[in-house]
Amino acid sequence: MSRTRILVTGASGQVGSAAVRFLAGLGEVVAPGRDRLDLADPTSIRTLMREVRPRWVVNAAAHTAVDKAESEPDLAFALNAEAPRVLGEEAREIGAGVIHFSTDYVFDGSGERPWVETDPTGPLNVYGRSKLAGEQALAATGVTHFIFRTSWVYGAAGKNFLLSILRMARERELLRIVADQHGAPTWSEDLARLAAHVITQVDKNGQGSLQPNDLCGVYHAGGSGETTWHGFASAAVDMLREHDAGVTLARVEPIATAEYPTPARRPANSRLNCTKLSQAFGFRMLDWQESLRQVMRQLYPSGN
Ligand SMILES: NC(=O)c1ccc[n+]([C@@H]2O[C@H](COP(=O)([O-])OP(=O)(O)OC[C@H]3O[C@@H](n4cnc5c(N)ncnc54)[C@H](OP(=O)(O)O)[C@@H]3O)[C@@H](O)[C@H]2O)c1
Repeated sequence: MSRTRILVTGASGQVGSAAVRFLAGLGEVVAPGRDRLDLADPTSIRTLMREVRPRWVVNAAAHTAVDKAESEPDLAFALNAEAPRVLGEEAREIGAGVIHFSTDYVFDGSGERPWVETDPTGPLNVYGRSKLAGEQALAATGVTHFIFRTSWVYGAAGKNFLLSILRMARERELLRIVADQHGAPTWSEDLARLAAHVITQVDKNGQGSLQPNDLCGVYHAGGSGETTWHGFASAAVDMLREHDAGVTLARVEPIATAEYPTPARRPANSRLNCTKLSQAFGFRMLDWQESLRQVMRQLYPSGN
């Protein structure tokens, strides 16, 4: 019997690289590099999809440089909106399913309540607008799709806030970190575990074409609990201190967003309510502090 073929895009990224590892047990994972799949080029996507004919597409690629997106909106929309649409169209033609990642940046960041899936959207920046357009474009293709809006992704590898903080904590005396944006860090491996869980649950028999059903749609999937960027950085530096006893590390000082201007506006409220996800799939996202501890163990295996 042929094994389930799963196409992972963005395999060099945080979520994509974890997905390649977590999905390996479910079937044959195909993870093309940019030389084989350029998501900014619809022809490249269509050619690859027709060649690989996956049963599932896990789309972990995106234009994720939030500030840069302000000055290159065409590229951001090509990768974040047009590519999911083309992937969706091609997947629908062959009866495949698509798992796609989106962001809390589709919201305007107002209020203090964690966002639910049915809340009105209102992105503040180009990245958020392009990701929202991608959600809508993918859904409109009519493919079997699962869209996971997540937040503040980090892990032991890749380019992320945690790794920057750990490096700068050793180099500097003072870190001034924004303390008025609220949300939860999400471990890249937790999102990969989620993708594997959903594929396993939806695709019990692994045969025939996948048909859209009531479970398809948008889900919030951010780390459990909440903090601020300052809280996240402080917790990380505290854990580093346990490991690096005797080494002088930077003090972590809270500042307001207004003191750290960036090209793209960021939402103040990035909290995501993940109840729909746990009810539909019985999947609970890890508490951000627990994930942080696990990532720190990966980074510093000898620590406790
Ligand atoms: N990072 C966050 O804090 C965050 C927060 C909320 C939601 N998300 C969403 O979560 C998902 C995964 O994010 P991530 O942090 O894992 O991303 P990431 O680490 O920035 O990786 C992005 C991936 O996309 C690939 N890519 C970019 N342009 C491409 C192109 N033209 N053709 C093919 N591949 C291309 C990159 O390949 P190269 O290595 O070749 O550049 C890389 O593998 C994305 O949908 C993102 O929008 C992320």
